[in-house]
Amino acid sequence: MRNPDPNSPSGETHVPSVSARLLAWYDRHHRELPWRISPVARANGIEPDPYRVWLSEIMLQQTTVATVKSYYHSFVERWPDVEALAAAPTEEVMKAWAGLGYYSRARNLKKCADTVAGEHGGRFPDTEAGLATLPGIGPYTAAAIAAIAFDRAAPVVDGNVERVFTRLHAIETPLPAAKPEIRAAVARLVPTDRPGDFAQATMDLGATLCTPRRPRCVLCPVRENCVAVRLGDPERFPQKAPKAEKPARKGAAFVALAPDGSVLLRRRPETGLLGGMSEVPTTAWTARQDGGTDRSSAPFAADWKPCGVVSHVFTHFSLQLSVFQAAIDGAAPEGYWWSAPADLPGEALPTVMKKVLEAARPGITRKSPKPGRTS
Ligand code: ADE
Repeated sequence: MRNPDPNSPSGETHVPSVSARLLAWYDRHHRELPWRISPVARANGIEPDPYRVWLSEIMLQQTTVATVKSYYHSFVERWPDVEALAAAPTEEVMKAWAGLGYYSRARNLKKCADTVAGEHGGRFPDTEAGLATLPGIGPYTAAAIAAIAFDRAAPVVDGNVERVFTRLHAIETPLPAAKPEIRAAVARLVPTDRPGDFAQATMDLGATLCTPRRPRCVLCPVRENCVAVRLGDPERFPQKAPKAEKPARKGAAFVALAPDGSVLLRRRPETGLLGGMSEVPTTAWTARQDGGTDRSSAPFAADWKPCGVVSHVFTHFSLQLSVFQAAIDGAAPEGYWWSAPADLPGEALPTVMKKVLEAARPGITRKSPKPGRTS
């Protein structure tokens, strides 16, 4: 459903088009991002590096720009090109990814690097369709890389862009049903000149001015084109279908500590939630209420002491883990290893496990300062 747009094409072409306004705004107000080639640099012939565009887009799926920046820097420093990443052990990539969440992204990142290095001569395909054949690259990411790295006229629609376009056209259809309508609206406006900058302009507009709450419409380059502004209530868009509540699960996690502060860890199965990441022993994480989620379910007998409950929200459920700790001595049981305090920050520990360890011993996951000279 669309509200009538009195600004829609009328044959009058003296006013700048929406795309021209967005590009002019982007030239002056774009965000400086480590993976981005600024419009001036582009005009001076600096080309984006598809490897860096791809890496940033994978990291930015489900993760904020602020969080991604430091991970992006350490990845490109350590693995400056796709061949270097392909040559890295998966375990090292998982460790470097720890904390970014959605760990299947890291496994697919590595698989994708292997494929590009091994089957494409180290060069990313330069079309949306070609990119979409690679592991971990879905339709959104294929469009984003095609546009940003190769200046293909692909419609790039993330959450920010959905907000911009549902407001621009006052699209009343709730999300997610509105997605095809939004994509078509974006596709109509993608310019043949500078489609990559256009994609980034729409993302930046959504991130900086066309925000979910209190959008700063007075500063917006397309306020005259925006039907939601004319209707007087841009915050009403996008409309959203009510969300189903996430199911709750619970379990217990057991932090075994050696006299030197080492922690007993094991690896999760390769596939499934947090696949291949490290964890302390835990019970199953279950929605059932009939036991198996308390101290009596510890993997071995010890003097398990309770140290609180940690909560974590995953995509499909929320989790409450009761944390127990005990002092243990001796060799690690089969399938486990002792991780010394200095090694812990480098383990592939997902955020939920960092919370568990912090509940058992505050400060344990922080990097300890390197021993230096004292004078
Ligand atoms: N979000 C996803 N991709 C992005 C990009 N290339 N620039 C800014 N924000 C983004």
